[in-house]
Amino acid sequence: MSANINSIKEEIESYLVSNQEELEQYRQRFIGRKNILASLFAEMKNIPAEQRKEYGQQINELKEAATVKFQELIQSLEDEQSVGQEKHPDLTLPPQPDTLGGIHPLSATRSEIIRIFERIGFNVSEGPEIEDDWHNFTALNFPENHPAREMQDTFFIRKKPDIALRTHTSSVQVRVMESERPPIRTLSPGRVYRNEAISARAHCVFHQVEGLFIDEGVSFADLKQTLYYFVKELFGKQTKVRFRPSYFPFTEPSAEMDITCIICGGEGCNICKHTGWVEIGGAGMVDPQVLENSGIDSKKYSGFAFGMGIERITMLKYQIRDLRLFTENDVRFLRQFSSLT
Ligand code: DAH
Repeated sequence: MSANINSIKEEIESYLVSNQEELEQYRQRFIGRKNILASLFAEMKNIPAEQRKEYGQQINELKEAATVKFQELIQSLEDEQSVGQEKHPDLTLPPQPDTLGGIHPLSATRSEIIRIFERIGFNVSEGPEIEDDWHNFTALNFPENHPAREMQDTFFIRKKPDIALRTHTSSVQVRVMESERPPIRTLSPGRVYRNEAISARAHCVFHQVEGLFIDEGVSFADLKQTLYYFVKELFGKQTKVRFRPSYFPFTEPSAEMDITCIICGGEGCNICKHTGWVEIGGAGMVDPQVLENSGIDSKKYSGFAFGMGIERITMLKYQIRDLRLFTENDVRFLRQFSSLT
């Protein structure tokens, strides 16, 4: 009898299946209701009483081995199927859509501006968004109670001494001049805040990029040449630049910069309100008093500064008509910029 058990055991151990049918044959033979082991159990009554215990144990072990093997066979079939799939991918299936995120258009513009200025030796410096009165206003020549402060609708966090959300990145100029010695060539991109109603053209949170160049003998000609270079790199060689006299407390003389409308090329359209020109930012020669406020000798050094809105530049570059699109996170908008780096 034990010879019979051994041969069944060997049969189980060496059993191989290559498809579901063969698996089913195995199941019927060793696991199913009328399996071969059941007949061994039926033999039990013919076994001499003193051998019954051992016999019983052997068929129980056999039953256990048959079940374990069954699981192994199921697994081996599954493995084989998945390997088969890898070997023969179905090339007619539609491709999986690529759902990778992209660079936000504002980040792309910010990086592009930085890359352009890095090529002419500018580095990047950052400052805090929560700023004190000195760095946001006083050091930049905004006297107390001066109306120019009113123009920048400030979000105050605390009064006396004033702590506010910075209204412009010009505050970083002061921080850099306080901590570094000329020559200084730096670019300060960052988020700024103003207490304004949100519309297609204005937001209470937006971005600026500030530029600052301080050295011996820096003149307005350097400012113009630097910004010509920048505008042509960013918007294309055909773009023209003009400076209009303006006023900022921290620069003297001050100017506003316009470029020829990149939509109509200067012919006149809705975007440029039929003037052919669009404004991109402010600039000027750093007021000697501002240099002195930050501990730089204004008799030895001079410099220029400029500031631009990153939203504004991005809107012009990609013809975006509503500023709110930048913060709504609508994927239909963002996907249009998925190729930007
Ligand atoms: N800070 C100004 C603003 O927010 C922009 C600006 C104008 C920055 C002239 C400058 C500058 O550095 O020279 O409106």
